[in-house]
Amino acid sequence: MVNPAERKQALIKEIKALKKEKSALILAHLYERVDVQDVADVYGDSLGLSQQAAETDAHTIIFCGVHFMAETAKLLSPDKTVYLANPNAGCPMADMITPTDLAKFKAEHPGLPVLAYVNTSAEIKAMSDYCCTSANASDVARFAAKETSSNEILFLPDRNLARYVQTQVPEIKITYFDGFCPTHMRMEVGDVVKLKKEYPDAAILAHPECDDPIKEMADFIGSTTAIVKAAKASDKRVFIICTEDGVSQRLSQDCPDRLFITPTRASAICPNMKLTRLENIKRSLMGDNTPIEIPEEIFDKAKACIDSMMRVPRGEKQSLTPEHHPVTA
Ligand code: 13P
Ligand code: SF4
Repeated sequence: MVNPAERKQALIKEIKALKKEKSALILAHLYERVDVQDVADVYGDSLGLSQQAAETDAHTIIFCGVHFMAETAKLLSPDKTVYLANPNAGCPMADMITPTDLAKFKAEHPGLPVLAYVNTSAEIKAMSDYCCTSANASDVARFAAKETSSNEILFLPDRNLARYVQTQVPEIKITYFDGFCPTHMRMEVGDVVKLKKEYPDAAILAHPECDDPIKEMADFIGSTTAIVKAAKASDKRVFIICTEDGVSQRLSQDCPDRLFITPTRASAICPNMKLTRLENIKRSLMGDNTPIEIPEEIFDKAKACIDSMMRVPRGEKQSLTPEHHPVTA
């Protein structure tokens, strides 16, 4: 009888063989299960994965993440076949703003440039001028304001990222839509306070999607890849990781001699990000999935919105490969 560990190894072997045969690239967000990240060619944050999707020569992209990420990959690589590994994985934050909401928001603030977080549908991007991720939001806000000679911009849908950007670019007025990430909002500031009392030397690293009181306690604020890199570069031993639990899991695996704790852990798990299993990847590689299609009438406008982000001077590449060296010092 084959035990579960042997079955999993066999599945991983099949995925690797299929990936080669189909010339496919597997991308995984850092909120995915660690076994999914481990079979990916690249794992990282939304910006790093978009950059990979734009640059790859692979014929097929298998995206282990949520729907807006696979749509973004398709917009950046229109000639490639893009699969969302589990087609049921959506983002509740992205769903918080509809085209009707955005039309109303724009009508209430006429003439202002619209900056959409990448966590939006292609339809919303088609109605927006600029796009950003959590890794480059302040840079894109500055770029958008300069390019349009405006000292005010509209930001959507995440109010928490918007308020963080406002602290980074005080010279621009950020008028924002009232959306949020339910996963980050379930994290309780009281739990962060308790952990800091228990581990006074711990570093607190937070994602900008966290509520303000958590960010105010943080030693470092950044995207998921930025958090991983900052933790690995730090000489601290204990880390309070204020973002979806996948990041702590990644870090615990890579740096087993350090302690990474997710506050309010049971609630800080994005159910959508955890929908993808190795079986979904195999099925997608076998073509047993529906490729992402973007309606023709919105394609060019949504693409122009994403391309605006690629025009903003890049910082360091925000993606990691499973082969990178874990920090063990
Ligand atoms: P990034 O750090 O990739 O920007 O992640 C935020 C997020 O919520 C993805 O769903
Ligand atoms: Fe959406 Fe939040 Fe889940 Fe990211 S973590 S996919 S923003 S619900």
